[in-house]
Amino acid sequence: MVDHASSRADDAPVLRLEGVRRSFGIGTDVEIEILHGIDLVIQRGEFCALIGPSGSGKSTLLNIIGLLDRATAGKVFITGEDTDLLGDAELTRLRSRSIGFVFQNALLIPAFTALENVMMPQLVDKGWPDAAMRENASRLLGRVGLEQRKDNLANAMSGGQQQRVAIARALAMNPALVLADEPTGNLDTKSAEAVLKLMREVNLANGTTFLIVTHNMELAEQTDRIIEVVDGMVVSGTTRPTNASRNKLT
Ligand SMILES: Nc1ncnc2c1ncn2[C@@H]1O[C@H](COP(=O)(O)OP(=O)(O)OP(=O)(O)O)[C@@H](O)[C@H]1O
Ligand SMILES: [Mg+2]
Repeated sequence: MVDHASSRADDAPVLRLEGVRRSFGIGTDVEIEILHGIDLVIQRGEFCALIGPSGSGKSTLLNIIGLLDRATAGKVFITGEDTDLLGDAELTRLRSRSIGFVFQNALLIPAFTALENVMMPQLVDKGWPDAAMRENASRLLGRVGLEQRKDNLANAMSGGQQQRVAIARALAMNPALVLADEPTGNLDTKSAEAVLKLMREVNLANGTTFLIVTHNMELAEQTDRIIEVVDGMVVSGTTRPTNASRNKLT
């Protein structure tokens, strides 16, 4: 990438969606449209919730934002990059370097230690392990309060601990944007609160942008901005709230 492109990317919003649509073929000649033209801008450092009824299209939208799926129509810009212009290898590179994922299930590799799981994104990116990678993973496990557990096997940890490992793993490449699809959906209230608090701390400390899908309104109200999807349309939260309304939420 040339210099002027990278400085432009620094000023650009982390995410810009323009008229994003997604249809799925069902059967041979029937198509149903799930997302009906989504416009959305998320700036660096925002801490957002994505809410909406079951089946409204939240995960479909998150998969498109996360470059795991392509929109049928419309534009997706990640840190200023027009993703339409990127081939598969470049998309993979942008995804692994700019976006971290946290899912409802931690999806750790069960027979690997917490540390090895957190090292995984960097290992996949670089191809071989090194001391810096190990140090980074260790620091991140400290960040999520699991320094003492770094040599524990993933499957010997509680659900809340596994989810904290998953957050550390999502941060391994120091991504601009973390996408979390119901990260607290399988956790008890106390662990859910702890996981949200942790994401907020990372947001404040590193300026990492978060977009968190949740069905839990109490958690959503602790974010700065609630984006609501109903029937494949963003019905509120399209724009950033003013400081006044944000203070009311937090
Ligand atoms: N690959 C697919 N093929 C066909 N339809 C799909 C596909 N993926 C999702 N859908 C449909 O798109 C709609 C939205 O699904 P999505 O998973 O995005 O909802 P959601 O808002 O995440 O719901 P939940 O809160 O239950 O997770 C649903 O009607 C679903 O059946
Ligand atoms: Mg979903």
